[in-house]
Amino acid sequence: MAFTRITAAEAAALIKDGDVLGLSGFTPAGTPKAVTAELGKIAKAEHEAGRPFQVSLLTGASTGQSCDGILSEEGAIKYRAPYTTNASFRKRVNAGEIAYNDVHLGMMAQDIRYGFFGEIDYAILEVCAIEDDGKVYLTAAGGISPTVARLAKKGIILELNAFHSPKSIGIHDVYEPQDAPNRKPIMIEKVTDRIGTPYLQLDPSKVIGVVECDLPDEARAFKDADPITDKIGENVANFLMNEKKLGRIPEGFLPFQSGVGTTANAILFALGSNPDMPAMQVYTEVLQNAIVDLMFQERVKCASTCSLTVTNDKLASIYDNIDFFKDKLVLRPSEISNNAEVIRRLGLIAINTAIEVDIYGHANSTQICGTKMMNGIGGSGDFERNAYLSIFTCASVAKGGGISAIVPFCSHIDHTEHDVNIIVTEQGVADLRGKSPIQRAQAIIENCAHPDYKQLLWDYLKIADKGQSCHKMSAALAMHDTFLREGDMRKTDWASYIK
Ligand code: COA
Repeated sequence: MAFTRITAAEAAALIKDGDVLGLSGFTPAGTPKAVTAELGKIAKAEHEAGRPFQVSLLTGASTGQSCDGILSEEGAIKYRAPYTTNASFRKRVNAGEIAYNDVHLGMMAQDIRYGFFGEIDYAILEVCAIEDDGKVYLTAAGGISPTVARLAKKGIILELNAFHSPKSIGIHDVYEPQDAPNRKPIMIEKVTDRIGTPYLQLDPSKVIGVVECDLPDEARAFKDADPITDKIGENVANFLMNEKKLGRIPEGFLPFQSGVGTTANAILFALGSNPDMPAMQVYTEVLQNAIVDLMFQERVKCASTCSLTVTNDKLASIYDNIDFFKDKLVLRPSEISNNAEVIRRLGLIAINTAIEVDIYGHANSTQICGTKMMNGIGGSGDFERNAYLSIFTCASVAKGGGISAIVPFCSHIDHTEHDVNIIVTEQGVADLRGKSPIQRAQAIIENCAHPDYKQLLWDYLKIADKGQSCHKMSAALAMHDTFLREGDMRKTDWASYIK
């Protein structure tokens, strides 16, 4: 069956106000771009004509400018889940204009199947090749494609994007688990084990049309590493080397997961450059530039990921050297890349970046000063809760020193003290394993806080009421409150908060 070719504008015109869209991709990698950009034009025209036009978006993770960017700018998103990184989207969410549900990425597909987001109207999938019987080959990400393609009730729109080389066919391992009580063990015992198919099998009768396009991926380039991120990377590497010496990590090491962002990229690079680190294995959701470089240098021997969140030159280098990568690189749906069962079995070392951590070890990955969304939890909860070693990193201060990343109490908590093993800043490492809350507080203040904030934090403990966690509730958020009022946490005066 040869599928009908349609233009992006024709595809977008099918979508009506109130529809729910399920998209391929994970981060801007592998996300459809042509149809959502046209949808932005429709939304603009409808709004100018005084008519409502908004859709709900269900995705694997963040998307790029052609989706979250354009649709946010046009006020065309009503509801959205999960993770995003787009600045226009962030502005709308923080103005209370978009209903945003920040779901663990590994849970997204299952939550869709259980119907928690209602029904999906259209699935829009980016593919690099299509077979007449409905087999399609995804591009740079696994995401939630198997689930949204199966459940879309009005049909599937395919974006056949010539930017992505069909040479990558074979890199995906597509597998959708059944739900309880019929779920089978997910038999991944090694990073590169394959349990599914290289293609996604669609019901051909559901394919509405194929939009041909040639559009580059929209992954962001990261800020360069700096002395702070380099020092954090060095601290993580030294800590892990010592764990190996103590026999807590085997000689051949354990697979790594590493989070998104500049810090994560720099840490991976520091680990890969450490001469005492054996060639690494990576089981993660987002494969960033540093890992591609380390694979070329054979410092990373294999990687499983949900997405190739790399700059376009790196993506081209993967496609150009696909024979080198084929037995070393697997792309999986997010439900599998972030699967608790597999993460626990493989014994991962998970390293993610926090916005702030508190003196007892709770971590905030998502919100600034308790109210403003940054990006979202992403997969950090999937990995940190289930890893063998759960590491959070962050610079000890932000915004020129006016914000301490170590605070008495996080203004929002994504990861609890029970799930966080190690905190690393450029100042040092706090190993929280086996410690009581007050012992954790001492380790975190002594080893991780910036010198400008150490005494302030020790003084907080002096005014705190005794208990399992020692807090003075009227002062627990005083550093945030001082920042909001005076622009600098260093001005915190505990006396004025004691009631
Ligand atoms: N208070 C206010 N702002 C803070 C802050 C704090 N305590 N800590 C960091 N920031 C700001 C930085 O100043 C920076 O702002 P800018 O963009 O205006 O320069 C911004 O947050 C990003 O910080 P940066 O130091 O550049 O870190 P990053 O690129 O490594 O990103 C996170 C850090 C936490 C935002 C990012 O890792 C994230 O979104 N994590 C959640 C999802 C996740 O962990 N996924 C992991 C699985 S892949």
